[in-house]
Amino acid sequence: MSALFLADHEAPGQASVQRCDACGHDLAATDPAPVCTQCGGLLAIVHRAPVDVDGAPLTGAALQGRFAQHCCARPVGHPSGVWRFESLVMPGAGDAITSHPEGNTPLLSRARLAAYTGCDGLLVKHEGYNPTGSFKDRGMTVGTTQAVRTGARAVACASTGNTSAALASYAAQAGIPGLVFVPAGKVALGKMAQTLAYGATTLLVHGDFDKCLALVQEASRDLGIYLLNSINPWRVEGQKTIVFELLQQLGWQSPDFLVLPAGNLGNTAAFGKALREALALGLIDRVPRLVSVQAAGAAPFARGFREGFATRHRVQAETIATAIRIGDPASWDRAVRAIRETDGLVLSVTDDEIIDAKVAIDAAGVGCEPASAASVAGVKQLVREGVITSSHRVVAVVTGHVLKDPGTLIDLHQHRPDFPGANRPVEIEPTIEAVARVLESRRQALS
Ligand code: F0G
Repeated sequence: MSALFLADHEAPGQASVQRCDACGHDLAATDPAPVCTQCGGLLAIVHRAPVDVDGAPLTGAALQGRFAQHCCARPVGHPSGVWRFESLVMPGAGDAITSHPEGNTPLLSRARLAAYTGCDGLLVKHEGYNPTGSFKDRGMTVGTTQAVRTGARAVACASTGNTSAALASYAAQAGIPGLVFVPAGKVALGKMAQTLAYGATTLLVHGDFDKCLALVQEASRDLGIYLLNSINPWRVEGQKTIVFELLQQLGWQSPDFLVLPAGNLGNTAAFGKALREALALGLIDRVPRLVSVQAAGAAPFARGFREGFATRHRVQAETIATAIRIGDPASWDRAVRAIRETDGLVLSVTDDEIIDAKVAIDAAGVGCEPASAASVAGVKQLVREGVITSSHRVVAVVTGHVLKDPGTLIDLHQHRPDFPGANRPVEIEPTIEAVARVLESRRQALS
């Protein structure tokens, strides 16, 4: 297993290297190769551990203090919840940062969601507050900054929709052409609209996400386009800041459980790396149990977990939560490590449970897209099973904004007579009598 930080004698003069997970080969931080040039393994970033102005190691409270100071400083005039953790993300990035800004998302406490899940200590880290409405912006600000500093002529990704929206926005800001591969007919309306609006070249692939990912990897190899999927190690660095930020919001006291929706497993991998580093640097003194939640129709990782991860499974994915409609997750091995190191769990929840949780989150006035609700559905499941009890502090990550998937919402509320939670709009003539009739019929609900 490779070391967490660079030793003094390694990579002289460099702040970070890209190290192969499989064979340990190092590439320079600015090498644009998407995977290891020796063996094709996934690359991970290894930084030099943070130091103070005198070159002494910076850990624990002193490092926490640096992050507090940096809170509103990076980039100048644009406080970013990613770049204040620069020394653990991309040290020495300089001022050429492509930042919206992003991050600084709230940690919400809602009595209705506590009641819904049965978890009194539930907090919701809402990543839908990011500029393009999902957590993908955190990785994309770092990935795009890397693309700019390595002189990439174009950037590309495969996506179920949120990564493509984020890529399109950040590529536009950086002035680099963006190319996205999405499964035709399987991308939620809001995400497709964003991707087109921000100007990325959009390929509607006749195939699922897994096909799109294979295709974009080939295209990036053959055409020399910089790959910005979550296997890109710099995107992982950006996504770690979800964890750093929520720990900072909790005064660096780890919750008992940290629950997130899981598809391609990039975020599970990023959370594992963040917790490993936070523990090693004394930012926290224990890690939360990581809980990855998959949709039942797209749950190869949950199946692997039940079997002690003896086999890497692949499935034909199908779920209403299109963001996590993924059958062959790319970051499998890293995610296994994250679950093992945190005594974590992997669950699957049905589409009905996802929609039920989403309706509860929406009705609490918070709102999210379907895939995001998997985390809250997972909390409810663990309370039911007695794994989470009333004394536990739990953070559920909600990954995307309610407006990402208006199609599902309109379908549920307007077109499904059998849906019990439907809030049907009422068409009326423009008269006060018509208004009064509606109010009368809803008197109880409105009084
Ligand atoms: N939640 C949302 C809203 C997502 O968009 C995704 C992934 C996930 C959860 C799962 O994260 O893949 O790291 O396990 N969306 C990717 C995309 C695949 O293309 O936007 P993961």
